[in-house]
Amino acid sequence: MRIDIITIFPEMFEGPFSHSIIKRAKEREKVEIYFHNPREYPVNKYGSIDDYPYGGGAGMVMRIEPVAAIIDPLLKERAYDEIIYTTPDSEQFNQQEANRLSTCSNIIILCGHYKGIDQRIRDIYVTKELSVGDYVLSGGELAAAVFTDAIVRLIPGVLGNETSALSDSFQDGLLAPPLYTKPLEYKGHKVPDILLSGNHQKIDEWRNEQAERITRERRPDLLK
Ligand code: ADE
Repeated sequence: MRIDIITIFPEMFEGPFSHSIIKRAKEREKVEIYFHNPREYPVNKYGSIDDYPYGGGAGMVMRIEPVAAIIDPLLKERAYDEIIYTTPDSEQFNQQEANRLSTCSNIIILCGHYKGIDQRIRDIYVTKELSVGDYVLSGGELAAAVFTDAIVRLIPGVLGNETSALSDSFQDGLLAPPLYTKPLEYKGHKVPDILLSGNHQKIDEWRNEQAERITRERRPDLLK
């Protein structure tokens, strides 16, 4: 998979993308991630990427031209499955969307900017708008990092154990059951006997019951 991220803060991705699963996915050549900074494509005489909003109001608006100068050449090079714009005023990203996007070959993620971007960028280029949750971040970069992480770990061959993504919370519509490791007892808190029984059918049943119980208690909306 190829992911092109359009951002004025590419350094914000250095930490999240150089460790753990994304690092491994890049090393195994399961994903290629490229950054494009609109500041390197200023196309008005002042070299600015944003301008005052028509009609007045607070905040600057990202101009079309620097974004078009990045996206147009990319579209000439290859077909993109989705051009995603990160914005709180859109549908919320979830595991189902991560699954779908993990099957794509090429995606662009355009990170939102201050007050917003010229609506025509959204009308002309963007095919999918996604929010990370019902709260406002300072920019789209953290949302883009979250989406990328959730998507890349699902690409076949990225996780060591192929089944481990299948047992994630949400993957079967339920939250994950509790996990235990050594020691057997800690400050009076014991590991449930069933997990020591060696009976894998019973252990699977117990884990399912726990997942259902936890989902009912914490996220009853998922059971509907
Ligand atoms: N940019 C600012 N807030 C955001 C959010 N909640 N989701 C995606 N992008 C954002």
